[in-house]
Amino acid sequence: MPDVADVQLSKKKDFLDQIEKRRTFGIVSHPDAGKTTLTEKLLLFGGAIQVAGAVKSNKIKKSATSDFMEIERQRGISVATSVMGFNYRDKQINILDTPGHKDFAEDTFRTLTAVDSVIVVIDVAKGVETQTEKLVEVCRMRKTPIMVFINKLDREGLDGFDLLDEVEQKLGLRVTPQSWPIGMGQRFKGVYNIYENKLVLFSPHGKQSEEDVIEITDLEDSQLDELVGPSSAEELRSEVEMISEIYDPLDVERYRDGDQSPVFFGSAINNFGVKELLDCFVEIAPPPLPRITEERQIDPREEKFKGFVFKIHANMDPKHRDRIAFVRVCSGIFKRNTNYLHIRQNKKMKFSNPTTFMASKKEIVDHAYPGDIVGLYDSGNFKIGDTLTEGEIIHFKGIPSFSPEQFRYVINKDPMKSKQLNKGLDQLMDEGVAQMFTMEINGRKIIGTVGALQFEVIQYRLEHEYGAKCDYEPLRLYKACWISSDNDEQVAEMMRRRKKDMARDKHGALVFMAESAWALKMAQENYPDIGFHFTNEFE
Ligand code: G4P
Repeated sequence: MPDVADVQLSKKKDFLDQIEKRRTFGIVSHPDAGKTTLTEKLLLFGGAIQVAGAVKSNKIKKSATSDFMEIERQRGISVATSVMGFNYRDKQINILDTPGHKDFAEDTFRTLTAVDSVIVVIDVAKGVETQTEKLVEVCRMRKTPIMVFINKLDREGLDGFDLLDEVEQKLGLRVTPQSWPIGMGQRFKGVYNIYENKLVLFSPHGKQSEEDVIEITDLEDSQLDELVGPSSAEELRSEVEMISEIYDPLDVERYRDGDQSPVFFGSAINNFGVKELLDCFVEIAPPPLPRITEERQIDPREEKFKGFVFKIHANMDPKHRDRIAFVRVCSGIFKRNTNYLHIRQNKKMKFSNPTTFMASKKEIVDHAYPGDIVGLYDSGNFKIGDTLTEGEIIHFKGIPSFSPEQFRYVINKDPMKSKQLNKGLDQLMDEGVAQMFTMEINGRKIIGTVGALQFEVIQYRLEHEYGAKCDYEPLRLYKACWISSDNDEQVAEMMRRRKKDMARDKHGALVFMAESAWALKMAQENYPDIGFHFTNEFE
């Protein structure tokens, strides 16, 4: 019989192996760059799905922005694709889906708090687009390691070097190309895999097979001329030489520190160049990283379970009012039917049906490890940012709220239902659908969103899930600015003089509702000891 110490040692080893195996990441892009297609090809490699087309895009089609049923349908799909797990080589990979639609940008920002690295997809013809800039900025703030996939090389696009310049300038990344295209569009012949010194030849609409990969350790090899033609071979040689002169070689430490981004070229729809990306990803992407709390840093290898809620997904079917709270396991092992402390509510809770997600299948799990995401059925106990532990009191940091872009007053259309309205609004805000501010002067409620779509979502859901009716009154505001200051007198003075512009957010924090950029500038000049912030996450 093995002795107790041996058993404990082997359990510990298994636990550490499980952590080391996990790679949890998100794919971000501007809509239409190819995020869904790339996700699908990655799942095909992992054997998580068998046929193309199995992953439905969760994007809300442009034509459907005013069609509510479409939004609802898409939401239904997105719960299935919120997390997609698969195995590749010896790694357990979790892809966290992020909505591409700009109106749901806050969802994406929050999801990014639960990943350890990110792959950015860029359309070769369009270059760096606005949505990508915003998302990468958030990743850079957190030093999230980033890999870049330049997609649609089967089409004409920008010159490779110009694109890399754009990526460096607009996204602020330092790049290191790890594959390089040979021509593009009609003349696209393949990529040279710099990471592994291999030539990969392109056959459109075909499946990339092992025979298409030719090992060429020396680009001077005359075989290259035979394979791609002398002029393309010459061009490739000179471009690869330029790359080695301009860019630093891959440095895994720098990548993991968020200081260098490997770049790959390919065509997701043709499943070309994707394997090169994935093979490099599994080798260099970081395993679950420590997470910062207000109290201390949490190491994934700590024995006791700790996790936080980064997303809540409501079931819009009124017959099934439950919600799913998505929890990122940060340390220890999450176990089914075990009591955990819900810190904000100071109560013990246990979960009989926690689910994990393998491709689009949901499965009940007994154990989940750091890096995993578990879905917990919830009847209204959770808010985004909530922490679960085995008893230690900690609060995870880094689930930011950003200033909304659009604001409206809420009007209760049915005074008999004000209780339902308030409950509905509270719960929708807990889910992070939008933000609510209460004006200091008269207690009026303002809803702030990133895009117009959420106003529709709120109205519809209040009516169908809570039986309350609301309307909106337009309101022209520039930004909501969280304020901070050590000068209490100045804050008191501002409260006195600008009371009509002051509000509280859902945590009771003071917010200046700036009517215009000019009004904000004036306030900054008049109250120099007060800091004005576009996000509630500031030191
Ligand atoms: P998204 O999730 O980032 O929004 O993009 P998605 O994968 O849905 O791709 C957007 C469009 O780009 C799709 O075409 C898709 O087929 C196409 N696409 C993706 N990868 C490539 C590629 O490597 N080359 C080319 N030429 N096209 C690519 P669609 O017509 O909008 O949709 P669908 O009707 O094909 O689904």
